[in-house]
Amino acid sequence: MTPTITPIDATLGAVVTDLELARMDTRTWKTVEQAFHEFGVLVFPAQHLTEDAQVAFASRFGAIELLAPDPEQKAVAISNQKPDGTVMGPDEHRFKSLRGNEGWHTDSSYMPLAAKASVLSAQVVPSAGGETEWADMRAAYDALDEATRRRIAGLSAYHSLYHSQAKIGHVVQTGAGYGFHTKGAPLRSLVKVHPITGRPALFIGRHAYGIPGLDGAESDKLLSDLLDFACRPPRTYAHRWQPGDVVIWDNRCVLHRARPYNFREPRVMRHTRVAGDPATELAPTHRDDRASAYEPSTSNR
Ligand SMILES: [Fe+2]
Repeated sequence: MTPTITPIDATLGAVVTDLELARMDTRTWKTVEQAFHEFGVLVFPAQHLTEDAQVAFASRFGAIELLAPDPEQKAVAISNQKPDGTVMGPDEHRFKSLRGNEGWHTDSSYMPLAAKASVLSAQVVPSAGGETEWADMRAAYDALDEATRRRIAGLSAYHSLYHSQAKIGHVVQTGAGYGFHTKGAPLRSLVKVHPITGRPALFIGRHAYGIPGLDGAESDKLLSDLLDFACRPPRTYAHRWQPGDVVIWDNRCVLHRARPYNFREPRVMRHTRVAGDPATELAPTHRDDRASAYEPSTSNR
């Protein structure tokens, strides 16, 4: 089985066909892993993985980051559909979290240990919209002018899900869901060097705020200017999902966002998150004023 890897017409991403993710031999897996490091986003059309097979695929990349209280649950639904089949209304907490996902971000940057990779598979897709879009932060860094590179070298930003949700008017109590914790806001460098490829990438997104050494307005402007510059063609790709498609991306060098759709239609995605390596994705945390308390921890659990 030799997979076919077709680069997407952007600085990131490839479509991988002629393989079954559920039955990869070692050689095929090594090809996939190498492509993951090269392209940052891999699209596998029409895989129709079972939940167990998706978890097994994600586990090849590393330990699974547990997102639900039950440690046996290694995949979660990202869905606007409730258990009774109806769709969520705009006032529901989960709905506001889904709307938050429409801002460019990287997964778990607001946790002590940021994520390595994320896997999504499409279960139910709306008739229009609902794409996932990625932006290449390696190519964005490469495209910065020298003065900007010099300016951001050595700068860091705090990351908080309370912060990013508050920006869209969603004020969340501590404990109300994953990410609304008392472990503090991690302080992360604006430039992240990829632990495998050595390529520098911008590490920003909607969870980032409060660059130490800059006042609030300067920090907001720098972060939003960087994001505006970074998330543009040819550095972006939006995937129009078909049920059964699987995508994995590298959170260490790629931002992503969900695109809007008609929220009266269901959209059900299955998500598995691969934990970062503590050697390179663990960051010190500082008090997060929006949380109810500050209890520093190096664990996401
Ligand atoms: Fe996400």
